[in-house]
Amino acid sequence: MALHKGAGDDRRLSISPFVGTADPLGAMELAPPLHRLADGPVPAETAYQLIHDELMLDGNAKLNLATFVTTSMEVQATRLMTECLDKNMIDKDEYPQTAELERRCVAILADLWHAPAPDDAVGCSTTGSSEACMLAGLALKRRWMHRNAERYAAGARPNLVMGVNVQVCWEKFCTFWEVEARTVPMEGERFHLDAEQAVAQCDEDTIGVVGVLGSTFDGSYEPIAEICAALDDLHRRTGLDIPVHVDGASGAMVAPFLDPELVWDFRLPRVASINTSGHKYGLVYPGVGWVLWRDRDALPEELVFRVNYLGGEMPTFALNFSRPGAQVVAQYYTFLRLGRDGFRAVQGASREVATYLSDAIGKLDGFRLLTRGDELPVFAVTTADDVPFDVFDVSRRLRERGWQVPAYTFPANREDLSVLRVVCRNGFSRDLADLLLADLDRLLPELRRQPVPLKDLGVPARSGFHH
Ligand SMILES: Cc1ncc(COP(=O)(O)O)c(C=O)c1O
Repeated sequence: MALHKGAGDDRRLSISPFVGTADPLGAMELAPPLHRLADGPVPAETAYQLIHDELMLDGNAKLNLATFVTTSMEVQATRLMTECLDKNMIDKDEYPQTAELERRCVAILADLWHAPAPDDAVGCSTTGSSEACMLAGLALKRRWMHRNAERYAAGARPNLVMGVNVQVCWEKFCTFWEVEARTVPMEGERFHLDAEQAVAQCDEDTIGVVGVLGSTFDGSYEPIAEICAALDDLHRRTGLDIPVHVDGASGAMVAPFLDPELVWDFRLPRVASINTSGHKYGLVYPGVGWVLWRDRDALPEELVFRVNYLGGEMPTFALNFSRPGAQVVAQYYTFLRLGRDGFRAVQGASREVATYLSDAIGKLDGFRLLTRGDELPVFAVTTADDVPFDVFDVSRRLRERGWQVPAYTFPANREDLSVLRVVCRNGFSRDLADLLLADLDRLLPELRRQPVPLKDLGVPARSGFHH
């Protein structure tokens, strides 16, 4: 948030006389303020050029190995999105066909994630996984409140069990909706939630357990089936019947194609809801996400609002009202365009690049792999103990060539461990991976000549990781 720069900051944009559309002297009189609305307009071409030039300082999206979010789509998809830029997703009555495409996407995901009765599964599009997780969390909380009405009225406080590696949206959920976040810390080489730790945290006020497929920190899949089996056992032993939400922000669009034998979805009766980011491995530009519940019982009716649709009623459950329709259309495009085989090929190519690159980095002297990119096409690597540089130095030096590879410190109880994380996505080819390796190879001798990691000399260890 740029709240610190206000109307008191009187800096202005300066416009070269040669940027104006017609009169080269005309533009010289313009100096629109940066932080206040100017008194008058600027010609459209001038406004475009000023902003376009400034945006060149942003990183190159193709070299962005920090993000999970799609940075390249086909021109046909882009054309469809441009055609739909003016469509508001909530206007189901005005744009019934966009609403129909949204429903088809929900049906496709219900089938992909093995909903027991796909017609009975309910779901919707969202702006991304964060909103999807809020909605899923709210449904869990509301179901717990129904089951525990008296205890809730008497002051019992609900809790949600998850690994400390969850994405920040779950901390937000707990803070915004007053749920205690019961996070299981990392321990040794265990970097995500396991069944034993999950069950150990559960009690009668647990609204649910969040399992992540896969972890934002290192790309590993959490053992969803084992967590469910342990909760089944808890149910048998104690009567506590605790539902599971699968945060499949990335993995719910990877595992169905690359790991069909892995049972993590609605095939497990304990899985009440699943979310994914359409804009991650769903291969759509930001922002679209999805959340589905296995059946109507999993989504309390009072959370669903009715909007007018073709003169009838359309149920909606969302935090936003207005939302762009173009991304939903683009999601349907990727489903139609790729089919199962196409998705398998695209995600398989990303995983191949990830394992190839992790293998090669693992062989370089000075690095130690934590994950290999063989679950999500994402891996984490740290530096060896005996080198005079750290992951922050590597990240900083790679940035000089345009590569954005974030470095960050793990959470409790592994704050001692700092890693580089590489996210391989559609568009990051093996050729680009080779160029990255070549740059790393060139850099290493220089890094080895450092006396110590730069943070030991007082240079701040900047993290580019916003998980
Ligand atoms: C596991 C997980 N959950 C949720 C999110 C939040 O997703 P979004 O950016 O779509 O809101 C992310 C983003 O990286 C994630 O990795």
